[in-house]
Amino acid sequence: MIPLGTMSAMQLLSIRGATVCQNTVSSIESCTQRLYEQILLTNNLGVDSNISAVFVSMTRDLDACFAARGLRKYDVPMFSSVEPNIKGALKRCIRLLVQVNCEYTKVAQHIYLGGAKTLRPDKAKFVVAMDGPAGSGKSTLAKIIAQRLGVVHLDTGALYRAAAIKLIKTGVYKEGLTLDLDRLSQVLANTTIKMDYDALISRVYLDGIDISQDIREPNISRIASIVASNPFLRQYLNKIQSQVASQQSCVIDGRDIGTVIAPNADFKFFVKASEQERAKRRYNDLVRKGQSIDLDSVMVDMKERDYNDSTREVAPLYQASDAILVDTTDRTVVQSVSYIMRHIFGKNG
Ligand code: DC
Repeated sequence: MIPLGTMSAMQLLSIRGATVCQNTVSSIESCTQRLYEQILLTNNLGVDSNISAVFVSMTRDLDACFAARGLRKYDVPMFSSVEPNIKGALKRCIRLLVQVNCEYTKVAQHIYLGGAKTLRPDKAKFVVAMDGPAGSGKSTLAKIIAQRLGVVHLDTGALYRAAAIKLIKTGVYKEGLTLDLDRLSQVLANTTIKMDYDALISRVYLDGIDISQDIREPNISRIASIVASNPFLRQYLNKIQSQVASQQSCVIDGRDIGTVIAPNADFKFFVKASEQERAKRRYNDLVRKGQSIDLDSVMVDMKERDYNDSTREVAPLYQASDAILVDTTDRTVVQSVSYIMRHIFGKNG
């Protein structure tokens, strides 16, 4: 018998993980191996740690081989099973439960790779970046995708619009003139822009006042695009955006999300639509809101914004090389959402 005093307290720790793969022998084997090794690595375990069992489950659409095959070389006791076939559940998914005997104080770090990250936004932080020009539909899509994934949606255009309102009110913005840097920094030092993105319809507060309606005025769209070329203002707003992105899983939409704000985003999309289609959408939006406007002037405004947004020196709008293109011209919102969700859920771990 071992005297109690010499025994350190032990526990059977259960660590979970999930990944997605293609239905081929090599993909199933390599993805399972990668997941297992990541679980060991992140939890500071070696292959010779006291692992008592590994439970392996696969979704029914994976039938090229047993995922457990990928772990044979580790010589651990394994048990395979099949996940129930639930409608809408993540496809081509492999899950592991690793049980290890270790010291009592150790805390499990669960691992979710690739598309499987979306299974547990609370456990594995992920960022979905969506960029695109005005009227492409990116904000509408970003809002729905965030709701479907159960994470926060940050509409960064709203931040630029809020800043534009403040700069107009304080006289820092003057039509046709460059912003005065001293006045700009003074005003921004006394500005608070907050977003309440937990509500179903996100709200924007400027110095404590709800300006969610005001930011949608056509003149604010125009001026937001002009002041957005100022590097100092961008730096100020970048801090707010990076803070949100570093604290939680989120969907962020804007012009420079996949290129500047979150270049390492887990999922990147570039949303576009034809000029005619984008102008028509903007026009219909404004008419619905009771504004009297003609399609031609909407088109002129939009072209001016496109020009400003994509030719400015700092953080211009362009498609990141690793972003997936989503052309919404001939797609309904539902079709675009399912196209994006297919990419997110199907991303190879
Ligand atoms: O997405 P939106 O139309 O609400 O954006 C308003 C303006 O803000 C847009 O014309 C350019 C600017 N913007 C930006 O420069 N960078 C972002 N990440 C988001 C918006």
